[in-house]
Amino acid sequence: MMSAIVSALHVLALALGLPAVFFRGRALKGLLDDAGLRRLFAADSVWGVAALLWLATGLLRAFGGLEKGAHFYLASSLFWTKMALFLAVVALEIWPMTTFIRWRRQHRQSQRVDTSAARALFMVNHVQLVLVLVMVFIASFMARGFGFR
Ligand code: HEM
Repeated sequence: MMSAIVSALHVLALALGLPAVFFRGRALKGLLDDAGLRRLFAADSVWGVAALLWLATGLLRAFGGLEKGAHFYLASSLFWTKMALFLAVVALEIWPMTTFIRWRRQHRQSQRVDTSAARALFMVNHVQLVLVLVMVFIASFMARGFGFR
């Protein structure tokens, strides 16, 4: 039962995370006026929740004895590929995260927000979106036992 709940939450993270990163990209491409910034911050918050949910449920599934056991995943090259891609998404998030924290503060204090980096941030966001899509395929192959010699 626990395994089913955690599995559902892991998939729910995808249902939250993918639209969130898509709409964060759209907001970055659109007009970043007051309403545009609010849309950006809303999508960014959901993206953050999804990332935490992915990590918590993923770790539980891999190492909490809920699925095939840690030895299966540690021996799977596709598990390590998936972890490398996840780390890449997290590393790529450092710049957007620090930027959006600053933008949120300036917006809250009714200061002018310098959004000149929006175009470059859109590109980073786009790479993250593609990496998440690739991870879904890697995960499905991993779960079915591919990735062993
Ligand atoms: C962007 C982040 C992630 C995405 C898109 C993702 C996607 C998925 C998907 C779609 C599945 C279901 C595979 C299937 O049953 O066909 C899955 C399963 C799984 N994921 Fe993730 N995941 C992510 C992050 C993580 C993380 C960070 C971990 C571990 C630390 C993790 C560990 C697992 C495990 C252990 C399974 C179960 C595989 C099995 O059934 O044997 N995932 N993931």
